[in-house]
Amino acid sequence: MKLIQHKREAFWFYRFLSNFYDHYVNPLFWTTGMRDASLELAGLKPHQKVADVGSGTGFTTEGIARWVDGENIECLDQSPHQMARAKAKAALQDCRFHLGDAEDLPFPTDAFDRYVSAGSIEYWPDPQRGIAEAYRILKPEGLALMIGPLRPKNLIGRWIADTWMLFPEERDYYQWFEAAGFVNIRKRYIAPKWVLKEPYGIALVGEKPQPGPSALSYEPDRFEARKSAVPVKSLPAFLGRLLAGSLAGFLFIPMALLGYLRYGVLKILGRPPVHPEVARDRLPLQLKLVLAFLGLALVAALAVRYAG
Ligand SMILES: C[S@@+](CC[C@H](N)C(=O)[O-])C[C@H]1O[C@@H](n2cnc3c(N)ncnc32)[C@H](O)[C@@H]1O
Repeated sequence: MKLIQHKREAFWFYRFLSNFYDHYVNPLFWTTGMRDASLELAGLKPHQKVADVGSGTGFTTEGIARWVDGENIECLDQSPHQMARAKAKAALQDCRFHLGDAEDLPFPTDAFDRYVSAGSIEYWPDPQRGIAEAYRILKPEGLALMIGPLRPKNLIGRWIADTWMLFPEERDYYQWFEAAGFVNIRKRYIAPKWVLKEPYGIALVGEKPQPGPSALSYEPDRFEARKSAVPVKSLPAFLGRLLAGSLAGFLFIPMALLGYLRYGVLKILGRPPVHPEVARDRLPLQLKLVLAFLGLALVAALAVRYAG
């Protein structure tokens, strides 16, 4: 299991990250264009009952609320700090919020028309169990939409990803969905503009064919036992994992900034790269300023190097 693929480490990671999440993380890694392209797969309608699992600061929930009436949306997350930000958003005032665990949902069987989870599976210690839970809470013919990262192909990205948390292969997602009992599985690749060729993320949708829980259903008492077995054996081990895992995660930020810089240069040269799922978002002002600063620093460094 990876450094942050533990519930307690993920909890503390988001205790701090939630301060920056909406303004600095999403514009680089999970944009409105990617979100809306993914949600299209779920065929959302106003009257549908939707569960948003790992709803965080409500970024994906805001996308869901563009189609679905707020009172039909139930949000669940294990982080109260992330959830407080979602609760404060004007568009989400009618939604209901639950603190809880994606692998042990506090919802009845056969209750929802749609299950959506975006960018959360990579933190779950047992993704198969979380997907079996998605299956259980859906009504027959209900759809589950899972959005998550794909394992990078380049060596540096792969090394950071493997250290940090779970970056599944595409076939893992398919295996988990099929084992849970889903049928008619479809996918779409998603990526921000700065990713030129790499596999980056996937949105996978599957249909529940019949009522009842997944054939993989787990005993609740076994789960309780496993949950208490997961936590940290000692404080230094926990802190070490949290710090190293957070550092590995933050290494993706310069990668993304450099990616945007490369994208900007190609655009100026009249050769803007076209990714198949390019999100047509505009960069927020803060990021434009950071990129302008990086560009100037680069020019200055080159000038000093070659003038001297
Ligand atoms: C990258 S954020 C994604 C938030 C949101 N879905 C979005 O689209 O912006 C991942 C979220 O998953 C939550 N999370 C991680 N593990 C979880 C678990 N086992 N149960 C519930 N939520 C979990 C984290 O607290 C965090 O808010």
